[in-house]
Amino acid sequence: MIIISAMTRDRVIGRRGGLPWSIPDEYEQFLAHVRGQAVIFGRKSYEIFGGDLPDAELFVLSRSVKLAGARVFHDVEQAVAAARETGKTVFSAGGASIYRLTLSMADTMYLSILKEDYEGDTRFPEFDESDWTISRRDDHPAFEFRVYERHRG
Ligand SMILES: NC(=O)c1ccc[n+]([C@@H]2O[C@H](COP(=O)([O-])OP(=O)(O)OC[C@H]3O[C@@H](n4cnc5c(N)ncnc54)[C@H](OP(=O)(O)O)[C@@H]3O)[C@@H](O)[C@H]2O)c1
Repeated sequence: MIIISAMTRDRVIGRRGGLPWSIPDEYEQFLAHVRGQAVIFGRKSYEIFGGDLPDAELFVLSRSVKLAGARVFHDVEQAVAAARETGKTVFSAGGASIYRLTLSMADTMYLSILKEDYEGDTRFPEFDESDWTISRRDDHPAFEFRVYERHRG
């Protein structure tokens, strides 16, 4: 499973239910990565971003809601198992609650680290950088895209 996220240097990912920034080339890169793949969202993030992913197969975690156009799961293990059954690349696309639930299951992270700081109320979970190797860095005007690979041992 691949975790995909954009964050400030102090791990801000959201504000008031949305993104604190508008960085079109970062968002387009996100859409290109997940296009045609299996994507796991929390219900709140699905409501914001799900409509932008018509070609992806969406797996949504919710304790309650039924949603059109997505398969809803009450349990993260079941959502991940169903996503893996597709044979597609499985992405964990947030928000914070879903990153917390899936961080230990992921061996790869696609993280866009923004160059500017933004205020927010939602953060990516803390993780130990020493557990990971950065295998790729691409510089963009507003962010650095990094691929993190978990050390195996
Ligand atoms: N920068 C980025 O890359 C990025 C990516 C994604 C999201 N975001 C931001 O993150 C924020 C949203 O994150 P969030 O953590 O508040 O919400 P979220 O993870 O998107 O969704 C939370 C919802 O997921 C469901 N859920 C969570 N844990 C569950 C569990 N164990 N079992 C079943 N259902 C569960 C619940 O849905 P119900 O209430 O329906 O039960 C919960 O209310 C927004 O500001 C968004 O813009 C940023």
